[in-house]
Amino acid sequence: MHDMGITSERVPLEDVRLGDWDFWGRPHDWRDAAFATLRRESPVAFFPEMEFPGSASGKGFWALTRHGDILHASRNPQLFSSYPSMAIQDSSPEAAEYLGTSMICLDDPHHGRLRRIVERSFRPRVLARAEESVRARTKRLVTQMIADHPDGSAEFVSAFAGPLPLQVICDMMGVPEEDESRVFSWTNAIMSEVQTKEEFVRVAQEISTYALELAEERRSRPAEDLATALVQAEVDGDRLSPEEIVGFFVLLLSGGNETTRNSISHGLYELTRHPDQRALWWSDFEGHAKTAVEEIVRWATPVIYMRRRATEDTEIEGQRIQADDKVVLWYNSANRDESVFPDPFRFDLTRNPNAQVGFGAGGTHFCLGANLARREIMAAFSELRRQVPDIHATDSPEYVLNPFVNGIKTLPCAWTPPS
Ligand code: HEM
Repeated sequence: MHDMGITSERVPLEDVRLGDWDFWGRPHDWRDAAFATLRRESPVAFFPEMEFPGSASGKGFWALTRHGDILHASRNPQLFSSYPSMAIQDSSPEAAEYLGTSMICLDDPHHGRLRRIVERSFRPRVLARAEESVRARTKRLVTQMIADHPDGSAEFVSAFAGPLPLQVICDMMGVPEEDESRVFSWTNAIMSEVQTKEEFVRVAQEISTYALELAEERRSRPAEDLATALVQAEVDGDRLSPEEIVGFFVLLLSGGNETTRNSISHGLYELTRHPDQRALWWSDFEGHAKTAVEEIVRWATPVIYMRRRATEDTEIEGQRIQADDKVVLWYNSANRDESVFPDPFRFDLTRNPNAQVGFGAGGTHFCLGANLARREIMAAFSELRRQVPDIHATDSPEYVLNPFVNGIKTLPCAWTPPS
């Protein structure tokens, strides 16, 4: 198994090219070393943008790599706007047309008005009620994985880490169980892989048709779910537009799925590579659960970056940034910043304090699903420990080639089957 996050080599600054696809195909530990170089030697560096097949390259971006600078940008949205896109590349006209308007790419007050519509469903008291369903789903999935693989070996992402967050968010949205696998393939297609424009438009059209049909159904037959909250919501006296409904649907499904899935997969891989940490956690699960989940999210940093846009001329670390420049918040780098995390390349489930920024670095867009995700990750490992305590990865993960999502495509695993 190759290491992730153990920096033994120094990468020279001239070899750090965040705008090259080749960079993102390099091993994780090499990439981590490259970000360490940026933090040390060029914390606010300018890079050309990656090339995407069939679209023109943008004007380049500033890379923020230190924890403190990322907090600064995240907590000053009046200076660093989220509009028009969370990705380095501006959204294509197709994305805007078919995937609607999403609050993650809007600024306040519009963003705040939209966020309030769904916020209620993510409050701790409401989530505590969802806890039972999270636990039940988790238990069922582990039981199923064991039953489907009597030899005690499986592909972890498809058998467990993928279905769990999908089922939880589909439950909350009100998506019927028989539609879950379709939704699963759509979110994968939109978020992870590099795809052709035609493919994107086809998938986007399917999602958008599905979301509007579900909303229509709830308009006539309301239920206790997020789809109903969306059709009943009014913003300044107006109903949500079809584009806004589709935007919410895509944001909640994609935001809630891959991120949590990848945290769980990275978590299993790291517990395999650090048996001492697993033994410690398993010896007192409840006692370590809270810090363990934060460390898994820090380690995984499932969302590698978010992009902002400078609204006026400003300066960071003495570097001048002009109005309208793209500014990228590299959470993966902040989460290994040696000035904030003692021994940042150590996977330490008892790390406390842990100022990880995996859910964002604070401010108005801070991850709405953070508490839900924490509960899911905790439930996942609790149930794995209960039913298959020696589950471990049997090989290195196959990673997704993507600078935005720290994705694990596949992770072979094994356990001692129950006798
Ligand atoms: C480990 C799992 C997760 C990670 C690492 C994660 C990460 C993030 C990050 C980095 C942001 C952007 C923060 C910013 O721009 O300041 C975000 C926003 C968001 N996340 Fe998550 N997320 C996770 C799970 C979830 C879940 C389960 C949901 C539930 C549906 C969710 C829903 C959202 C939403 C709706 C936003 C946009 C909030 C806004 O614009 O106001 N996320 N998330």
